[in-house]
Amino acid sequence: MRKDGFYMPARVLCGDDAVRKYAGEMKKFGSRALIVTGKHSADACGVYADICAALDEIGTQYCRFSDVEPNPSVQTIMKARDYALEQGVDFVIGAGGGSPMDAAKAIALMIRHADKDADYLYTAGADGSAVPVVCIPTTCGTGSEVTAVSVLSSDKLKTKKSIPFKLFPQLSLIDGKYLMHAGRKTLNNTGFDALAHLYESYINSSATPMSRMIAEDGMRVWKNNLPVLLGEKELDAESAESLMKAAMLGGIAIAHTGTSLPHGLSYALTYNLGVPHGQAVCFFMTGYLEAADPEDCARALELSGFESVEQFGRIYKECCQLPDVPGEVLRKTLDACTADLAADPAKCKKAPFTVNEELLRKIAYRSLTV
Ligand SMILES: [Fe+2]
Repeated sequence: MRKDGFYMPARVLCGDDAVRKYAGEMKKFGSRALIVTGKHSADACGVYADICAALDEIGTQYCRFSDVEPNPSVQTIMKARDYALEQGVDFVIGAGGGSPMDAAKAIALMIRHADKDADYLYTAGADGSAVPVVCIPTTCGTGSEVTAVSVLSSDKLKTKKSIPFKLFPQLSLIDGKYLMHAGRKTLNNTGFDALAHLYESYINSSATPMSRMIAEDGMRVWKNNLPVLLGEKELDAESAESLMKAAMLGGIAIAHTGTSLPHGLSYALTYNLGVPHGQAVCFFMTGYLEAADPEDCARALELSGFESVEQFGRIYKECCQLPDVPGEVLRKTLDACTADLAADPAKCKKAPFTVNEELLRKIAYRSLTV
């Protein structure tokens, strides 16, 4: 029998008004919470007000750290950790897209290791215990609410990189209404990130029958929402819930397999040119799909609503656009993306085919010729 299994220890509760409805679930985490958000969207979409109301209801005190930038930096984590220690918090709530949720996990780790400095975040093999984390997604891409991953930007490493700890949230509360406030760019970039998780988990050397089953289901759910991402259909409550479900399934799938080459290639593109994560990842997807086993590629495309790799590439460009920088700057960065990934054999091994620098370069440049 092939290796198989399932492990996803986050308790996930979904539905209308989930944050208010399941407030009582947070009581056991302590008497004071740190709410971690970005600067604006948590207020605009109403999640911050819902969290405050939920915590008031159960008599839990709270404070807020709202300085999480996109692709959060190590410095931001340390600033939030110091604030959390001053405030004496017992647990952390990350609300927003991937950045606040990933930040919440890293902050929770550093609260538990109060005597450690920023270097601890990238110390492989160190104690990964953390104070409890609650995740509340407001976009439809990251899946951070069901993964153990926290990706940070490090000036020391000069790139984005996952920290080497498994940090599953204890609880995730999912309500599609928060997505209704996302702008088109956010919707498309995060929607394509979710698709990348599904593809990269499906076409992955660590894939198991169960992870593939989850990825396949996620692709079917995602496909139904392609008209929304193309702007052919209005985003309504049903599609919002469904897009968030696709993102969650993508998260569960990569929680089992990890991501693969497109994510590995994307980090330098985001770090150097500020290209949003989903846009950066799917820039490398046409090349990855073409390099995969043709049967796997055809199945993934069919399940997610595409007739061919070229059609996927064209629709990606329509929904997310190519990075808007001079050709020479882009080529230089693509070379950096290739070199970064070539130096990461563990990530290269996630591809279920032989990888060399020439293939990585081909994948890196493929979107330019679709
Ligand atoms: Fe991603």
